[in-house]
Amino acid sequence: MMDTFTTLPRITDSRETRRGVELSAGNEHVRFDFVKGDVLRIKISQQGELDATPTFAVVKDEFGTPEFTRRRTPRGVVLRTSALKVRIAFDPFHFDVFRADGSAVLRSVEGDAYRSQDGEWRVRRSKTSKDTILGLGEKTQPFNHNGRRVSMWNTDVLAPASDGSVRVHDNPDSPLNPTNDHFDPYYISINLHYHLPHNHPELAAASFIDCGYKLNYDFTDARTYEIHGEGGQLTEYVFAGPSIKQILQRYTELTGRMSPPPLWALGHHQCRWHDYEERDVNRLARTYRRKELPCDTLWLDIDYMDEYRVFTWNEEKFPHHAAMLKKLKREGFRVITIIDPGVKIDPGYAVFDEGAEHGLLCKTEEGEIYVGQAWPGETAFPDFVKEEARRWWGRLNAEHVRSGLAGIWNDMNEPSTGTVPPFAMRFDRDGQNHPHERYRNQYALLMAMGTVMGLRDAMPELRTFVLSRAGFAGMQRYAANWTGDNCADWKHLAMSLPMNANLGLSGQPFVGSDIGGFLGDTSAELLVRWYQYGVFQPFVRNHLCKGQREHYPWSFGPETENHIRSALELRYKLLPYIYSAFIHSAESGEPIQRPLAYEWQDHPESVANTSEFLFGDHILVAPVITEGQTRRSLYLPGGDWQCFYSGEHIKGGQTIEVDAPHEHIPLFVRSGAIIPCIQPIQTTEGYAPETIELHVYVPERNGSTVSILHEDDGLTDDYRHGAFVRTRFKLTRQGRQLTLKAQCSGDGFREFRRRELRLIFHGANLDPRTIGNQGESFTRTFTL
Ligand code: GLC
Repeated sequence: MMDTFTTLPRITDSRETRRGVELSAGNEHVRFDFVKGDVLRIKISQQGELDATPTFAVVKDEFGTPEFTRRRTPRGVVLRTSALKVRIAFDPFHFDVFRADGSAVLRSVEGDAYRSQDGEWRVRRSKTSKDTILGLGEKTQPFNHNGRRVSMWNTDVLAPASDGSVRVHDNPDSPLNPTNDHFDPYYISINLHYHLPHNHPELAAASFIDCGYKLNYDFTDARTYEIHGEGGQLTEYVFAGPSIKQILQRYTELTGRMSPPPLWALGHHQCRWHDYEERDVNRLARTYRRKELPCDTLWLDIDYMDEYRVFTWNEEKFPHHAAMLKKLKREGFRVITIIDPGVKIDPGYAVFDEGAEHGLLCKTEEGEIYVGQAWPGETAFPDFVKEEARRWWGRLNAEHVRSGLAGIWNDMNEPSTGTVPPFAMRFDRDGQNHPHERYRNQYALLMAMGTVMGLRDAMPELRTFVLSRAGFAGMQRYAANWTGDNCADWKHLAMSLPMNANLGLSGQPFVGSDIGGFLGDTSAELLVRWYQYGVFQPFVRNHLCKGQREHYPWSFGPETENHIRSALELRYKLLPYIYSAFIHSAESGEPIQRPLAYEWQDHPESVANTSEFLFGDHILVAPVITEGQTRRSLYLPGGDWQCFYSGEHIKGGQTIEVDAPHEHIPLFVRSGAIIPCIQPIQTTEGYAPETIELHVYVPERNGSTVSILHEDDGLTDDYRHGAFVRTRFKLTRQGRQLTLKAQCSGDGFREFRRRELRLIFHGANLDPRTIGNQGESFTRTFTL
């Protein structure tokens, strides 16, 4: 097809604005504004109008009034802040962004900087074929997107039928086949990409395109890359970095951070698409407790409903569901049910009637209710773009959870419309009818907004938990994401690492893939290895498609069960460390499951590494992702490390080979770190440890390391008003002297029961010792 996109006409006028400049190009307007000294916003109008509200992703994009200068030059204009220099040429229009030291942030391609046609637009920028491109949310392999094309279009990847069967592409290697590891597009669209030049990977820059329409990124060309928007406008945020950390901090200032989850959501979740009845759920709970396998949450998939009518229960299968939920809660289990957006078209069914009567369902251009195909058959879809519909949905959720549910699982929210094409589904904003393409990618974000509103109404004193399949930039504010329908094979276990890592770099820290694999029969070995890795995902859930071989922790006999128990016990043991990492993430935007590139972006070995990750600040995880492997090689990045199990010291900056027995995967701790732990528990219900174990990884070299323990009630928002105890541990080695300085802050909280800290030393010949401590600061010195 001939490309008839046209460039912007010559810039004829330039006016200074409060934050930058506005330029005129024919009928169009081009704005360059400084959001902050190191963040630039670019906007280019379509048909003369600048879109003031592109999407629901950004919560704040103006910070203070940045100081900048503007200078006219013979070719255009130059803007400068203390961190950025933006050089804009008028004819032909193009621009380059540099840091104050002259290094390039973004270089547009002259003549190709911006082109448009019939509401579509394209921008082209410079890169080299060796650069690293990261981010872009939920993408499969490879971790580095350079050399690849990816699209942003929320898609129901596997789309199984109601008996769990799937039809996949005939060619197993096609990118259209979701059983392979390079399928695209996926369920979630986050238009944030990082660009690390290969000769200066320490100088990362990033761009977030705030556009809800389908975007196509093409990184296949050797010298340039293109971003093509199939609609909307170019609204772009350019981040100067130069560290990935700084970029993510800025990006999450714009799009928000994870709201702190309840502690129980960090525990182990048991899910399965299965025709459970009340007695089966009770039996499942009993089995977990009898076998002493830690578990906090049981999930109910679509079959708990009455013929897939959302917000109903099948009363035959669950005749006393409220009593069941109460009983399970006493046994330390919370329950989450699925809520899909699809509303069964069924006059007489209250949810459908209300939605139809009050105009809250999506309509076609002709004003008819849009009809798609989902689990209930003919299905309508709430128009979440309307605030009124989000409130209505919130109310339905509130009523639903009042029976004793702990949280909500949102699925099929791409939205998935089965065999019916989605495009006739339109959305209403401020009384105006908008095309499907404008809001599709935001549908799940808007659904989660409504859901959270309802949960807050129903349980105002509690933190909320929503899990979503689809998502968009900003999703972290409302929901966790899981990576949808994966397969029970080693490829998909391996793929989960770069996927979760790129999601973390894209502002969504609360992520995880289904343990065991959703589709297909898993093996004992794969299940064990998946659990051993899975307990180091932020979100830990065993899930399975209908019609597959069951894979509960006990399904493969006692040996497998024992290995899985150890993995789960480790997760629960580490809860004080994990919880502290979550609170830190909620405050800073930092990922919990972090690619090595996040911490060591200037090391090529770290940037290329996708078979290891950092879990929180101090633990390096090197899972087994290959069948039959009992030894693996791994790269330890710069710094000093210690084996998690033995405390043995190992120098960083080298590739080593270690044992990976069936019992556990290789784990390493930063030397000098303190890992707060508890003794394993079965559930977080009633969590109030009297003893916190401090696992002290004693360094060989002189120096200091800081570790944080954050404790609060794990359930309410009281910690925001000071109801917490936060201990900052500073461990210093000076010759043979080891000093532990603990500084506490916070006002304490009612449930706090801690009486002692038990110090366990690793990598040094020091006996454990116990310090009576109820949240007071102290300093202790030990001689090595
Ligand atoms: C979708 C979900 C899956 C769920 C199934 C039935 O395939 O991704 O997790 O079990 O629908 O609700």
